[in-house]
Amino acid sequence: MNIELVDLKNQYLKIKKEVDAAVIDVMNSSKFIKGPAVQNFAKNLSSYLGGTYVIPCANGTDALQIALMALDLKPGDEVITPSFTYIATAEVIALLGLTAVFVDVDPQTFTLDPGALENAISDKTRAIIAVNLYGQCANLETIMQIAAAKQIPVIEDNAQAIGADYLFSDGSKKKSGTIAHIGTTSFFPSKNLGCYGDGGAMFTSDQTLAKKLTMIANHGQEKKYHHDIIGVNSRLDSIQAAILDIKLSHLEQYNISRNNVADAYNMAFENTSEIITPKVAEYSTHVFHQYTIVIKTNQRDQLKEHLTQKGIPANIYYPIPIHLQKGFLQVPNRKLDLTHTEYLMKHALSLPIHTEMTTAQLQYITRHVNEFFK
Ligand SMILES: Cc1ncc(COP(=O)(O)O)c(C=O)c1O
Repeated sequence: MNIELVDLKNQYLKIKKEVDAAVIDVMNSSKFIKGPAVQNFAKNLSSYLGGTYVIPCANGTDALQIALMALDLKPGDEVITPSFTYIATAEVIALLGLTAVFVDVDPQTFTLDPGALENAISDKTRAIIAVNLYGQCANLETIMQIAAAKQIPVIEDNAQAIGADYLFSDGSKKKSGTIAHIGTTSFFPSKNLGCYGDGGAMFTSDQTLAKKLTMIANHGQEKKYHHDIIGVNSRLDSIQAAILDIKLSHLEQYNISRNNVADAYNMAFENTSEIITPKVAEYSTHVFHQYTIVIKTNQRDQLKEHLTQKGIPANIYYPIPIHLQKGFLQVPNRKLDLTHTEYLMKHALSLPIHTEMTTAQLQYITRHVNEFFK
């Protein structure tokens, strides 16, 4: 049986007609950079997200970097972030000469632990990056309250959770990526909303910040050849925007399909005592960018090997947390108690999940996982 971690080929075949036509439209317009397709997609994504400003850029790493640049931080300022995330989240902190402060995650939701965050705040803390990991939001209502008390801006790295809803304690809800001062995302092909190359975007409801983010992404200029601030070149191209616009119209269905896969996995592992299935936090819906289980025993690597032998591509996100990466041992950073992060690096395993998964594939995977523990 052929099982992919993410099946982009079959997903494309289902929307091929729409995508091919949209790409040909861009080719015919030959407005490859800053064409109407980019504005159109930004407008549609903005209305999907509830009216936030959407500033497209070249990828999710740039989005994080530009977000930090917009906060006018100085070398040595501290930025608090989880260590249990993709390298991009912390890489941009180091790149800008800032000091990353690594805090632990909640062991059940895998996202920034608000208690650990509170303990980590120092008089040098100038920003917080919370990560909506694996498809659900971090505990943003609490994180925003902690940050507000100290007037610290918060960036929400939403590369893995686009489409999720944050559920506030007063019953209201907002789309993930729009809760913090600046949200960022990646449109890398395997993301829940992915293009066929690289892409990213920033979100904010603050008009002044939106203007600044737009300028930074465009060489620091608002008026052509007038570079008022230092910026970068970071653009989403028109072909990717046209593809994203089509995929945006399928995003809700894609996220439902991912939830169906997660439900099937949960049911199959109900009686497998060695496995902890993913917890969906009470404050967020989940869009299952990853379906990540925790193996209570020390058999995670053997299970992965067993699955590989059966042709099942399970993966470890992330085998080495950032505070233990060689590159980060060489740059200024501050580490706090990272017990849960270091436990998860040895026990977490992500199973294949995507929009095209068949019942037969699911049965094959769950059978081999459960057999391993018999
Ligand atoms: C949490 C997180 N942040 C940032 C990024 C960076 O996005 P990109 O690869 O588009 O630069 C990713 C992508 O994998 C991610 O998962």
